[in-house]
Amino acid sequence: MIEKGDFDIDNRIVAPKQIEADTTDDFEVNLRPRTLAEYIGQEKVKENMSIYIQAAKNRGDSMDHILLYGPPGLGKTTLAAIIAHEMGVNIRTTSGPAIEKPGDLAAILTNLEKGDVLFIDEIHRLSRAVEEVMYPALEDYALDIIMGKGPAARSIRIELNKFTLVGATTRSGQLSAPLRDRFGVIERLELYSPEDLCRIIQRSAVILGVPCDQDGAMELASRSRGTPRIANRFLRRVRDFAEIMGDGRITKDIARIALDRMDVDRLGLDSLDRRMLEMIIKGYGGGPVGLETLASAIGEESVTLEDVCEPYLMQLGFLARTPRGRCATQLAYDHLGILKDGQTTF
Ligand code: ADE
Repeated sequence: MIEKGDFDIDNRIVAPKQIEADTTDDFEVNLRPRTLAEYIGQEKVKENMSIYIQAAKNRGDSMDHILLYGPPGLGKTTLAAIIAHEMGVNIRTTSGPAIEKPGDLAAILTNLEKGDVLFIDEIHRLSRAVEEVMYPALEDYALDIIMGKGPAARSIRIELNKFTLVGATTRSGQLSAPLRDRFGVIERLELYSPEDLCRIIQRSAVILGVPCDQDGAMELASRSRGTPRIANRFLRRVRDFAEIMGDGRITKDIARIALDRMDVDRLGLDSLDRRMLEMIIKGYGGGPVGLETLASAIGEESVTLEDVCEPYLMQLGFLARTPRGRCATQLAYDHLGILKDGQTTF
């Protein structure tokens, strides 16, 4: 029986967020494409970006402010770096929670050079006070600083170099409306198809010098939950199995053995996803069951289930969210091999 806390949610092999192992040897950074031409997938976003970049360059101007939103691990940071690279400017990277006070933002903004890209990850987590300073910076490239207090207080305006803000968030709905309205470009990144992930894995395998055949790459791709960060992490771990158990080549068989051992099933579900579905089916007759009830039944936090398991389970069509609670679909029964009467098919 798995107890709450046994499961290290932050280091889950299928976690879409960056985990510790991804950053060893700058692994993820080295695999990142540096130009739009190298970037695989997200065709619509790529085509639009390419036009905006060319147009801005032709005018000798900086790009409009850009908001990128979508699930974690899909390449928002990578895309921001590509935009800076293609525009031939510097990028300064920070995150919403790291900018605690208006003064922190002022320090960053006054250090930007003409045309630079400022990338703010988790931009929905900026405080109200920091947001207020951001508005004139985005619109007029100026900072309004209040000096002193009471009747003697006066406002001075500091002019900034023109810059491009690239903001990233997992949910655009969490962004305040006034901030969202100040982005000229808003693009949503989608989960990747297994075919695109397969190409990403093959590109990464070449960079890492790991022999990986088409079927092996496809096996990794179809278990990677539409997320390049997970695909690249699998590639790195499966390489170890290939070197020890085989001849170093990643084949379909090696990929299967390795991922089965890591408890990642054919569609990329791990034990937490399966426990959640099994509890809905076996504990609550397939649902509906409220999220809080479900979370306490399996001993996990409800936000974990909501943010980590549900997006992919819903994308697979395994889970339905209804006003009365969560329901497992027929596809979930089929995948887990459970018949409606509770018998198992295998
Ligand atoms: N590595 C991670 N994401 C990638 C992408 N979209 N294209 C190419 N390589 C990647």
